[in-house]
Amino acid sequence: MSSDHETAMSLPPWRSLLRSARQREGRSPGATWLQLATTAEDGTPRVRTLVFRGWSPRGDLELLTDVRSEKSSQLLSQPRVELCWLFRKAKEQFRLRGRALLVTAEQEPEALLDHWQRLSPSGRMVWAWPSPGEPFDAQGPWPQEVADDEPISSHLLIMRVALERVEQLDLKPHPHLRRSWELRDGWHEQRLNP
Ligand SMILES: Cc1cc2nc3c(=O)[nH]c(=O)nc-3n(C[C@H](O)[C@H](O)[C@H](O)COP(=O)(O)O)c2cc1C
Repeated sequence: MSSDHETAMSLPPWRSLLRSARQREGRSPGATWLQLATTAEDGTPRVRTLVFRGWSPRGDLELLTDVRSEKSSQLLSQPRVELCWLFRKAKEQFRLRGRALLVTAEQEPEALLDHWQRLSPSGRMVWAWPSPGEPFDAQGPWPQEVADDEPISSHLLIMRVALERVEQLDLKPHPHLRRSWELRDGWHEQRLNP
């Protein structure tokens, strides 16, 4: 979240557009849900919903996940990802492409602890559950909460996406507004046909 404190000057131009679209959603929980597409080891696509957790100090998009999940192993063999973030009230879609890096508590204890402490007790529960994607285990454990003073789950990972291309589609104007920015062009804006 620290980049919210950075000066607007240092941020890529699409960051303020993304922030405006988020603000229009108000406190709706869906405003932080985005879809993450990865490539499985056999080359076929996988997509699922994750919660946006903030921006790293370097401007990478941060998500949280579980080291035991399939996406984690997929990212080790293919770190290229695309995210799709829909803002219903703003009628805007952002597609964000980049490379995902998985960060463990051993690598960056303070960053992991910061995220862990910001999670609610019920938000932490999934990291205390049995391995995701395995056949259902009635024995569990299936806790409903993990207290603030519990140590960081060894399953927690930060997924940091270093973005290389961002595209916005805004359905409000006529014709629709579609534009892209690429890191290699210094985030220069390119308007596209919708
Ligand atoms: C609203 C919503 C939010 C979710 N947020 C996360 C999240 O932040 N991190 C996460 O790893 N999984 C999250 N999930 C679960 C994933 O969509 C997915 O089912 C799980 O991570 C296993 O994915 P995989 O088998 O592709 O690795 C969320 C699911 C929903 C419906």
